[in-house]
Amino acid sequence: MKQIIKVELKTKSAKLTDCKTQILAIGHFSDTQKPSPEIIELCKKLGGAIEDVVKLGDFKGKTGTSSLLYGNNRIGAQRVLIVGLGEKSKATIDTVRQAAVLAANKAVSLKVKTVALAIHKAFETRFDSELVGQATAEGIYFGSFRYDEYVTSGENGRAELLTVDVIDDSSNLKRLAKGLATGTIIGKAQSYARTMANRPGNVINPPALADEAKKLARNTARLTCKVFDEKQLSKMGAGGILAVGSGSKTPPRFIAIKYSPKGKSKLPTVALVGKAITFDSGGISIKPAQNMEQMKFDKTGGIAVLAAIKAAAELKLPINIYALVPSAENMPSGTSYRPGDIVTTYSGKTVEIENTDAEGRMILCDALHYAVEQKCDVIIDIATLTGACMVALGTHKAGLMGNDEKLIKQLEDAAESSGESVWELPCGDEYADDMKSKIADLHNSGGRWGGACTAAAFLRQFVGDKKWAHLDIAGVDNVEKPTESKAVGATAFGVRLMTTYLLNLAKSNK
Ligand code: BES
Ligand code: MN
Ligand code: ZN
Repeated sequence: MKQIIKVELKTKSAKLTDCKTQILAIGHFSDTQKPSPEIIELCKKLGGAIEDVVKLGDFKGKTGTSSLLYGNNRIGAQRVLIVGLGEKSKATIDTVRQAAVLAANKAVSLKVKTVALAIHKAFETRFDSELVGQATAEGIYFGSFRYDEYVTSGENGRAELLTVDVIDDSSNLKRLAKGLATGTIIGKAQSYARTMANRPGNVINPPALADEAKKLARNTARLTCKVFDEKQLSKMGAGGILAVGSGSKTPPRFIAIKYSPKGKSKLPTVALVGKAITFDSGGISIKPAQNMEQMKFDKTGGIAVLAAIKAAAELKLPINIYALVPSAENMPSGTSYRPGDIVTTYSGKTVEIENTDAEGRMILCDALHYAVEQKCDVIIDIATLTGACMVALGTHKAGLMGNDEKLIKQLEDAAESSGESVWELPCGDEYADDMKSKIADLHNSGGRWGGACTAAAFLRQFVGDKKWAHLDIAGVDNVEKPTESKAVGATAFGVRLMTTYLLNLAKSNK
């Protein structure tokens, strides 16, 4: 995808009224009647158009809504987009991000190429300018994204080139600019993830994903990439990854990228582990046909991890990071693993297969054990693991489970500021009991109830005494129906969340 966006910061001299742009976006709170001081002149020049649309009730300022007015040569901008910010007292940093998302999304839908975003004064006083800048840039990238690699003609032609001027006259321009730069790195990583994740199963299979990972490492400073092929996996005894991959013509891979920051001293080591099933048919325990095409998204956890390490390396964070991505295609065939099989995993633990569709945990358990061997301080895994999590939390929040309160809290904090929302679910010993087999150490399905929790409890058996957290993103990794804020397809959920967690960790270690 050619999402060429130049985000530029324009300051005091750039008056809103003179701004030569195709769309000038300004924010409006639902509970304030008067225009904020920085747009008074703009309102005057437009002869009451902004006041009218509010007064007449056509635009109420609710979040997720907007109203488009025209400049008619009275101002420099061709159009003014008023973006709803909701109630002033309820505004969070994600309000800033979502306003930028909406403006950028609208711009691409209208096929315009230049946008100017005016930062609302209220944000400048309430939030750290660096965070405002970061959220704004992330929002611009998120909102302007369309997956168009394979569109050659017609209505949904390619997304347009875009330059975005961010207009502000605060006293914190340095911090704002720094935030914009950080947000641009994260925004680009997010778009990378969405492009990869939207690619279908005939394009991205495990070896193809491994090639992309190698390319990513080659093009990013201080990343090294090791790829284990089926022969090496066999030698290692990574029985979980091999079992899941055995039914497919394209063999499994295990991708291990390492980021080593410059400098010496003792830095913490974090392992990010992501599930990358390039297509999940269910295998011999095959899925129903309806919506099966959605299972090309079963690789989004692994891709989020690749994008997060890309962002962390570009941000030069002082943390050792691993991106560990077990990848396989889960297919039914004469060589597939079967229900009833007993698989010896990389850790040595044996698993009785009850359902070949519970494949995510079978590849993750090998990668988690590998992470333990690398002597990490923290392990975070992310996976489209269970339909049960989607049933429990819907499409708004990811499930968060773990064995360390502090880590859970850190991830909850990162979720809040990144706008990628999570909800904690349990995965304690009672759930682990449900995963015990009579003829092996574990079985791979915990039955009908609490499927997200029993799946996490299964994973917990492979992390030893490491601090560990698990994100079940089955409900949030893609959208089926596009909105004014979300294009159809992959959301890259987890990229902002994990990168923000790492950013915060780097800050706290200073
Ligand atoms: N990839 C699926 C989970 C999934 C379902 C993600 C729907 C997104 C939308 C996973 O591999 C799976 O099939 N899980 C099974 C586990 C069961 C067999 C224990 C499930 O959730 O039904
Ligand atoms: Mn499955
Ligand atoms: Zn799956």
